[in-house]
Amino acid sequence: MKYIFFLPFLLMLFSSCEEEMTEETLGDLTDISYSPQNYNIDFPQNFGQPTLPEDNPITVDGVKLGKTLFFDPILSKDSTMSCASCHIQSRGFNENKAKSIGIKGFESDRSSMSLINLAYKNKGLFWDGRTKTLEEQALIPVEHPKELAAAWPEVEEKLKKLPRYTLLFRKAFGIKKTSEISRNLAAKAIAQFERTLISSNSKFDLVLAGKERFSDLELYGYKMYLDEDPDVKDAECGHCHSIPLMTSNEFFNNGLDAAPNLTEFSDLGLGKITGRLIDNGKFNAPTLRNILLSAPYMHDGRFKDIDEVLDHYSAGGNWAPNKDPLIYPLSFTSLERRALKAFLSTLTDSTFISNPEFQPN
Ligand code: HEC
Ligand code: HEC
Repeated sequence: MKYIFFLPFLLMLFSSCEEEMTEETLGDLTDISYSPQNYNIDFPQNFGQPTLPEDNPITVDGVKLGKTLFFDPILSKDSTMSCASCHIQSRGFNENKAKSIGIKGFESDRSSMSLINLAYKNKGLFWDGRTKTLEEQALIPVEHPKELAAAWPEVEEKLKKLPRYTLLFRKAFGIKKTSEISRNLAAKAIAQFERTLISSNSKFDLVLAGKERFSDLELYGYKMYLDEDPDVKDAECGHCHSIPLMTSNEFFNNGLDAAPNLTEFSDLGLGKITGRLIDNGKFNAPTLRNILLSAPYMHDGRFKDIDEVLDHYSAGGNWAPNKDPLIYPLSFTSLERRALKAFLSTLTDSTFISNPEFQPN
């Protein structure tokens, strides 16, 4: 008797049509199997094992839900934009705008960031490090007035009305009723998906693994980057954008803005978060993996291409009391510039930007 009763509901659940259903019609979900399976990520040996949160294990169905949400404009107020609007796979999950544009054309205060090897990003997210975990971070863009500009209670209601999501949340988290769909579970799923975004198959990685060789120019650039060879000029990059992740995850003042004293930065960056004067004007040194795909550069997109970035480091940046000592005039020759660019181009990972696992189903 029970099964006959249930059949129409199940048919509706599994059909792809998006009819609206109320909580009552969906009823009890415990007849739908919940058997979470580990999602296996091959964390590269030379990256080490990241510290993953114990209360959000990465599962096949969790990642599937997270990916679905990441690409779904349902997370925005007017259903026009998703996370993927500003984090585009072919751009290393970044974009080519100086400052992001949210719904209705609002300009954000900052430039988007690449979403690469985030499982390892453990010293604070965003340009100013203001959130610690991906779970916490994923809640923010949805309500940010210049991004998706929605309200979570409304988004939760929209999700509850779609049987597709009821099923995905059931499979991912074992919810027993549609009413258990929540922003926190949505954020957990998005965080799981983001942790799968591992880029470790660039030419640089293949060279490290002994499978490919650098050209002479690339090798020269690599030596500059790492300060490895006394006969090659130090470019200092590798201290802040350290191998193999090409980021130290740390925050520095790399001399973008001239400031006669520590209070005179137009964007306080890390200092606004920590409240420490010495942190004013410091920003995250982001990963340089896939960097050639995401021009323009810096937290405000002020440099239109990599040449302008190299001009900046070559000139040694602008003075501020806390400008990092590694930022000083490097006066690159044209050969040195070409070498650095050639090395940076080996950080492009064509398998990462085309991986079907990172695309919506
Ligand atoms: C309107 C464009 C826009 C949308 C939509 C957007 N982001 Fe972002 N994202 C940004 C910008 C800009 C930053 C940097 C903001 C800052 O530092 O103040 C950022 C930063 C991030 C970071 C930090 C990365 C790091 O290395 O620290 C993560 C993670 C992220 N976004 C994930 C998401 C997720 C998940 C969504 C959807 C829920 C989303 N973003 C939607 C523009 C956007
Ligand atoms: C003292 C640490 C430090 C050194 C040395 C350094 N950087 Fe940076 N780098 C940073 C910081 C911090 C940022 C972010 C600054 C901001 O946007 O406010 C940054 C940003 C960048 C960006 C822009 C990233 C993006 O996603 O927009 C590029 C490209 C870059 N650096 C390349 C280099 C290269 C190449 C070198 C060597 C010539 C170098 N960096 C040396 C700290 C450093």
